[in-house]
Amino acid sequence: MMVLDKDQELVLSGNNGTVLGSAMRTLVEYGKVFGAKRLVPIKSAHIAGTFGIIRFNSFYAILRQMLDEGLRVRVPTTVNPRPGREFSIQNRVAFFHQRKLERMLEQLGVIENYSCVCYEERNMPARGDIVAWSESSAVQYANSVLGARTNRNSLLIDVCSAVTGYTPEFGYLLDENRRGRLLVRLKIKKMDASALGYLLGMLAVDRVPVVEHYPFSRVELKNMGGAMAASGAVALFHVEGVTPEAPDCASVFDGKPEKEITISQEMIDEFRYRGPVDMVIFGCPQMTFDEIMALAPRFVGRTVTKPTIFFMVPDAYNRFRGTDLCRKVMQAGVRLETCCPVSALTSHQGMYKKKKIMTASGKTYYYLDGSLYGTVDDCCAACGVM
Ligand code: F3S
Repeated sequence: MMVLDKDQELVLSGNNGTVLGSAMRTLVEYGKVFGAKRLVPIKSAHIAGTFGIIRFNSFYAILRQMLDEGLRVRVPTTVNPRPGREFSIQNRVAFFHQRKLERMLEQLGVIENYSCVCYEERNMPARGDIVAWSESSAVQYANSVLGARTNRNSLLIDVCSAVTGYTPEFGYLLDENRRGRLLVRLKIKKMDASALGYLLGMLAVDRVPVVEHYPFSRVELKNMGGAMAASGAVALFHVEGVTPEAPDCASVFDGKPEKEITISQEMIDEFRYRGPVDMVIFGCPQMTFDEIMALAPRFVGRTVTKPTIFFMVPDAYNRFRGTDLCRKVMQAGVRLETCCPVSALTSHQGMYKKKKIMTASGKTYYYLDGSLYGTVDDCCAACGVM
């Protein structure tokens, strides 16, 4: 049974407005399904519903009701990427309501970051903070790399949490569900974190994997987590001696792991496509500034032989575009974008349906129909800069 405090009861009763009461009821019912005993305050929210899809009428109607009642987000709230409405005529139709949706989100008081990598600069919870995020890659990073606590919430649940400031306490908010269950040993000579994440998502499914020590960078952790959360239902992983809740294996497992697996070089190499491609894309989760700065020098003084796009965090793009390196990358023929590659390329099927698109993102590989996977080196070779 869920027990609410006095303030929560008042909100639920409609005392502070009927729409806010409905948002609270939604969270209560959501929590009951998963056995939550109470609602807990959150430090921040992250909203995934940023695609102005033509038929999302109920979503827009609920946002409109919230605005008509004068609701605003009660905690710092970031939002996911734009869908790439300008990419094609098909996208203009598919995301017909983009401007209307953005206006409503902005009236609600969100931070206009428009990125799934909200945790780089705009929304950085500390270890132990309870937050209510949706967007599987961001949830994964918050839980695993930052040591914050969030469930993998859905569209609209995130909005209800943002306007009430609460989330039901269950799942990854509780210590017992954050313990390691699967020990992952590595026999890898050349790391490809994105492919490793993709494979781990399939093997772990919803168990918390603990990867034995490897000195992953933050960018690798981002890309590994994004892939893992796409191919599986994983919302938390640990890396021994790297992520905050796993200083060593003994402290993250309750006794022995349920299962132990070994990932070999051959297993992660299996995803690599080695034939010719028509187009190459980088980013997903969107590229951070550090990621762009690491990749961009490879393009200096070169000319891409295939259409090549960097999909970047908008803040990172704004920093990058003032640099000499940016000018050189554009001279090489690279196109720079700040939207979500999966939505941008999925919906204009007419143009890209038969194109062979290579990506170094395990998440894009999972979601973008017909895409082909390659390591970052493979992608550079495919677009002629290696
Ligand atoms: Fe982000 Fe879009 Fe990929 S939301 S994780 S860039 S699918």
